[in-house]
Amino acid sequence: MNINIFKIEEELDLAAANAVVNVINGNSNATLGLATGETPIGLYQKLVQAYENEQVSFKRVTTYNIDEYAGLGKAHPQSFYAFMKTHLFSKVNLSEGQFHIPNGVAVDLAGEAKRYEALLKVAGQLDVQILSIGLNGHIGFNEPGHTLRTETHVVNLTEETRQVNSKAFPSLTDVPKQAITMGLGTMMKAKKIVFIAKGEAKAAILKQAFNGPIDPLVPGSLLQLHPNLEVYLDTKAAKYLMELS
Ligand code: PGA
Repeated sequence: MNINIFKIEEELDLAAANAVVNVINGNSNATLGLATGETPIGLYQKLVQAYENEQVSFKRVTTYNIDEYAGLGKAHPQSFYAFMKTHLFSKVNLSEGQFHIPNGVAVDLAGEAKRYEALLKVAGQLDVQILSIGLNGHIGFNEPGHTLRTETHVVNLTEETRQVNSKAFPSLTDVPKQAITMGLGTMMKAKKIVFIAKGEAKAAILKQAFNGPIDPLVPGSLLQLHPNLEVYLDTKAAKYLMELS
């Protein structure tokens, strides 16, 4: 694990984006695993800037998002599809057919999870996977539990996750109760993981994830097993990790 700690958020975002740009510039057919949430927004802004400055092209890149809410279609403002369109897909040369996100409004959600898993199998090992962590240690929507699933699956969101994510919705009742998420197996098979976390609220879970035992009740702790994990933290999120180092 290679931990990089930044005082300035913009420098963190740039460093994490550069790690992704370097992967694409080393392989124009690169496959990327993408995450949503507040944490990676700055990274996506830096990717857009790199594209605008002709430092990177997404022309032959393929992307796979790690999750989507059940019941939210592409046009729903809180869908992860809409998030990705807003922050990345509409701003770089990535078009329909190059990016993939589970279909949250599929009639058969379990069937959709299988379809998505089959797509990932065809894609093979992702070149780089962007990840962040939830306050409860979840990765994507792999929620804490005694058994963790390795393949794409339908998940019941914990009340904690629904509460935390409700800030993006008009009210808690609008937050879906289920989602489709890539399993940890596909994420862990990626050649490289670019992991980002920001803010003091994440400090305690990061200590558990990166300095505690590997524990399915802290899904992020499994990342310790990845051979090429690059961690990008701000000083607030890294608070306890810095004390330990
Ligand atoms: P956040 O979400 O980036 O909005 O904190 C992270 C997550 O829940 O995985």
